[in-house]
Amino acid sequence: MTVIAVFNQKGGVGKTTTTANLAAAMARNGMAPLAIDLDPQAHLTTLSGLKPRVERTVYSFFHSQTPLSELVTELPNQVNLIPAHMELAKVDMLLSQNRRDLRRLKKAMQDEMLAAGGTPVLIDCCPMLGVLSLSALMAADVVLVPVTAEYLAMNGAQQLDQTLNGLTAMGLHRPRKVFINRYQRGHITSEHVAAELAHRYGRDFCRTRVFESQSVMEGSGKNQDVFSYAPDSESAEDFSYLLDELIESQFIRTGH
Ligand SMILES: Nc1ncnc2c1ncn2[C@@H]1O[C@H](COP(=O)(O)OP(=O)(O)OP(=O)(O)O)[C@@H](O)[C@H]1O
Ligand SMILES: [Mg+2]
Repeated sequence: MTVIAVFNQKGGVGKTTTTANLAAAMARNGMAPLAIDLDPQAHLTTLSGLKPRVERTVYSFFHSQTPLSELVTELPNQVNLIPAHMELAKVDMLLSQNRRDLRRLKKAMQDEMLAAGGTPVLIDCCPMLGVLSLSALMAADVVLVPVTAEYLAMNGAQQLDQTLNGLTAMGLHRPRKVFINRYQRGHITSEHVAAELAHRYGRDFCRTRVFESQSVMEGSGKNQDVFSYAPDSESAEDFSYLLDELIESQFIRTGH
């Protein structure tokens, strides 16, 4: 199965929203996904309605070598989650950016066979390029990049290309897919950004657009993914289509 880092150095583009809703879409398809919150802001954890003690979070893996599998919580929507805690901000001081430290997450996931047996893993990255995001990119097979339909998006895209090219130069090529989030039908900026992204990323740009949606926001406020909060909404359809496209293009590989 595939380990997917949901990544963009730009903040507020929908990394957490995508992780939560794509994981929910997978769960509805019987794929039993694992989501890892790797952001000290712990938004995915909060969004899931959890407020765990620090020793029950992924911080404990980095700080005390607690096996990842001991930190998994099953959510009511059948998504398995390894939660985060704001103490995670200290990981940049605990670990260095040498290869051995950055490989710890990947190695643990392999040793514990977390992605074995057909389990897709989604890692919600933070909007900074430190030990946490680099560990996620190392551990990932592929990188999924939400980009919002606004002008500064292209700046973010440039930074992202630099980061992924840097990894490729280190022999760590990670296929990527970019998609547009918060798309607004008929808005010139949305059309413009979509056209630029399609031009820039070609086949790596997803056909599926995730629209700006009230259901996404309202669901978040109620600690619910969009499938639980508004199963008949366009937004639920958007995330289902996104999952379908990622599977059809074999970006996400199903099976063992
Ligand atoms: N398609 C959407 N429609 C409406 N609101 C959205 C959509 N996607 C994201 N949002 C809202 O945008 C805000 C930022 O989204 P989110 O927290 O997922 O971004 P992020 O990239 O994870 O941010 P950070 O970089 O801080 O981790 C949230 O309030 C979220 O509810
Ligand atoms: Mg986030």
